[in-house]
Amino acid sequence: MNGIEIIGLGKAVPKTRLKNDDLRQYMDTSDEWIRSRTGIEARHLCTGEESLTDLAAEAARRAMENAGIAPEEIGLVICATCTTDYMVPSMACAVQEIAGIPGGIPAFDINAACSGFVYGLQLIHSLMNAGSICRPERSCALLIGGEQLSKMLDFSERSVSVLFGDGAAAAIVRVSAEKRFFCHTAAEGDRGALYAHTVGRNQIPMLEFEGKKTVSENPLRVSESLASEIMRDGYLKMDGQKVFRFAVHVLASEIDEMEAQSGISAEDIDYIVCHQANCRIIDYVRKQRKLPAEKFFMNLREYGNTSGASIPLALADMKDRGMLKPGIRIFCVGFGAGLTWGGCYLEF
Ligand code: UT7
Repeated sequence: MNGIEIIGLGKAVPKTRLKNDDLRQYMDTSDEWIRSRTGIEARHLCTGEESLTDLAAEAARRAMENAGIAPEEIGLVICATCTTDYMVPSMACAVQEIAGIPGGIPAFDINAACSGFVYGLQLIHSLMNAGSICRPERSCALLIGGEQLSKMLDFSERSVSVLFGDGAAAAIVRVSAEKRFFCHTAAEGDRGALYAHTVGRNQIPMLEFEGKKTVSENPLRVSESLASEIMRDGYLKMDGQKVFRFAVHVLASEIDEMEAQSGISAEDIDYIVCHQANCRIIDYVRKQRKLPAEKFFMNLREYGNTSGASIPLALADMKDRGMLKPGIRIFCVGFGAGLTWGGCYLEF
């Protein structure tokens, strides 16, 4: 099997930037608590007319520009997201329309929460090597990690809402005979550790919309009590300490897995790019493995936890800082709701 390589990266984040202290107008929190417990200093959140779909399309446009390719060369579009704007169509199809990527190619979304980008790379590797997806003239895949977590945040509840941010980043990927690629993904079904419920709008018994009561007589509606439970659980809920323990465990085990698959030790790898959830998770594993801080690229200080967007946002920032020179080798590790996790080895 051939490997895959990333030949272009682009990102787009919302204009509104909230510093930790800005959150104090909504909840009882402090810059000191957020910074010392998580390493986060700011996050970007969609406001006004900004939408996730537009951010994702802009990230895609910039990634194509960075790769020096035209939309006509894209043969596959995958969006990794758990906060898509539309139940249908997929964000991938919406981006295809906005970014002017011609039809006749597969485009779809995947939801593996914060591990979505690693899952996406694994899919692209398998699909492109199978030979049935991309025609020679459309040999590039577009993989986007994009999230608008702010849709699910309850700003009256401080333990979760301070952690997350919005953003999108995209990678142009193609098969390579020279660059090696290894990947491992996994999941362990758990609905309680990290979740947000969703419901069809016609199932809610009574909705006030523009002063009118709507869908009151829909026979498909759920009970009043289930509806209020779903409405309450529509906000992101997390058992922080359980997820913390899980994250530390899988981060360490995926580093081991990537060392075994690539034959390169963590000491010798150039960078380890982890899902940006909490600097204490990364520090814990880094100290356990006696690895230097410089090996772990971090940008969560600026964006907070952006779920499926966090690994590509980190790669796009590394590209902007000139860190992705030819020959650079990286382990990426994602972990999140599902619970899902995964690691991959990339060569630039
Ligand atoms: O993206 C998916 C992966 N996600 C993760 O990996 C997240 C993993 N979990 C974590 O990063 C941490 O568990 C958190 C950062 C979410 C929480 O840190 P913690 O050290 O586990 O704090 P805690 O929830 O145990 O709360 C400690 C205290 C509590 O007060 P008391 O009961 O000790 O008086 C909380 O009420 O901190 C309080 N607290 C806050 N105080 C100020 C919780 N949130 C806040 C806040 N500001 N925003």
